Amino acid sequence: MDLLLDVNVVVDICAKREPFFELADLAVSKCHLEGGRLWLYTGSVQTLEYVTRSALKFANEQAGRKLSARQLQWQTRQLVADFSKLAHWLSALPDEGEVFASADPEDEQLLRAMERFPSGEIKLLTRDARMLDEHPDKVISPRAFLGQSQGNKKVDFIDLKAQQDAIRPQLERNIHRVLHHGRYIMGPEIQELEQCLADYVGVEHCITCSSGTDSLLIAMMALGIGPGDEVITTPFTFIATGEMIALLGARPVFVDIDPRTYNIDPIKIEAAISPRTRAIMPVSLYGQPADLDAINAIAEKHGLPVIEDGAQSFGATYKGRKSCGLSTIGSTSFFPSKPLGGYGDGGALFTDDAALATAMREIRIHGQDRRYHHPRIGINGRMDTLQAAIVLAKLDRFGDEIAARQQVAARYNERFAPDVREPSPMTNEENTPAHPGRILATPYTAPERTHVYAQYTIDTDDREALQAKLKEQGIPAAVHYPVGLHRQPAFRQTGYGAGDFPNAEAAAARVMSLPMHPRLTLDDQVKIVQAIRHSQ
Ligand SMILES: Cc1ncc(COP(=O)(O)O)c(C=O)c1O
Repeated sequence: MDLLLDVNVVVDICAKREPFFELADLAVSKCHLEGGRLWLYTGSVQTLEYVTRSALKFANEQAGRKLSARQLQWQTRQLVADFSKLAHWLSALPDEGEVFASADPEDEQLLRAMERFPSGEIKLLTRDARMLDEHPDKVISPRAFLGQSQGNKKVDFIDLKAQQDAIRPQLERNIHRVLHHGRYIMGPEIQELEQCLADYVGVEHCITCSSGTDSLLIAMMALGIGPGDEVITTPFTFIATGEMIALLGARPVFVDIDPRTYNIDPIKIEAAISPRTRAIMPVSLYGQPADLDAINAIAEKHGLPVIEDGAQSFGATYKGRKSCGLSTIGSTSFFPSKPLGGYGDGGALFTDDAALATAMREIRIHGQDRRYHHPRIGINGRMDTLQAAIVLAKLDRFGDEIAARQQVAARYNERFAPDVREPSPMTNEENTPAHPGRILATPYTAPERTHVYAQYTIDTDDREALQAKLKEQGIPAAVHYPVGLHRQPAFRQTGYGAGDFPNAEAAAARVMSLPMHPRLTLDDQVKIVQAIRHSQ
């Protein structure tokens, strides 16, 4: 549980006010240790300084020490500033200024600020008797908080809160900047984000758009793909990949996957090329780029463009180059759970081809090249300015986020090593696991590639039982994806059936993704590893 700290509690701690100091200090430490967040209300800054100074003045006088006004001010600011490093600043919003009709405007501000949090997730820590009496459901004393037991803490599959904490000042500044300039559609943040993303990927052009799904649609529209055409792709992916091909009236032609990387197997692509083939669309699944050099070589031989669906792999590298900058067009998604996720839908396209970039820019805005002039058919596929402002705030720390994801994955790999039953695909050596359990494989990263672990996905031949056991212990798991696209009812007209893509079908029956986010703790990982190891 999070705590919003009332001024009296903060002053008790900063000025070591007796007899309150110890309980307040212990309550704050307990919240911290249990993974709760401490909040300080920005609107209370002046009161905080004023009351702390008075308390320090009193304490110094009692001790017979005489401090000058300057010394007192310096000491106060130092103590409050140090304490605030433990906490997060909670912004004061405009409706928290309209509190003068209430009996105690400052208390009213705090109560209103807490309404932003989901119910039960935050309490106001105070020793104000009136507040404790009048709002027992929202307010708690240090003593009562210390007496509360935490209960069994659940493991999060993905934790966006901690990331938000780390970037909150930038995030809120960016959002407020948009609210004030008011250019919600194609505002200046869009161009700024496109420039930053193009530089990051190392391509000439970036075109942001409304989602990863729309980015695939726009890419194929720019290539002129339509009814009667075929696009080669993988059956083991999220629906959007095949769906956008079908939406354009084209036929998805599926090619089986490499069982180690779960990405399309380049060796099998050539046999699927026909006179109707218009593009190859590999997916860089789970966060690892597909084998783009091999795919590009086949495409070049047949004069075909390649669209990399890098919705899950933004930030990953292939032979030192960034995913989304490896083929004719790269496409990604800023869906919230993606490695570079926004707070809503969003996507982006990348290319070095100026003509394609122009086409994609036009298609994104109803096919228009200038206001109310439409040389081609397009869609309403723009990214919102607010969303761009959010992604910009996240971009600064993206490198650290990827490194942290890789560290979490390395910890899983290391701890699962004694459980893995299959021979290592890297060495082909027989593995005699110390704990012959249910794991057949942990994620494999092919040479000269880096993985950003949009998902940390293991292979198991007893998925349902394992998932149920994990659930019992409050550990979430997910399946990406339980059915290959070739077996989805929506693609029934493509004529594929069971057994057509054995590797994709085996993967669909066996994969299971475990909790993965940059701030997954070692404790939680140990809990997950133990739960899987002892699940039989
Ligand atoms: C491989 C793949 N392609 C496309 C998409 C679609 O992205 P969006 O959800 O942003 O439309 C996703 C999203 O999950 C995806 O995983």
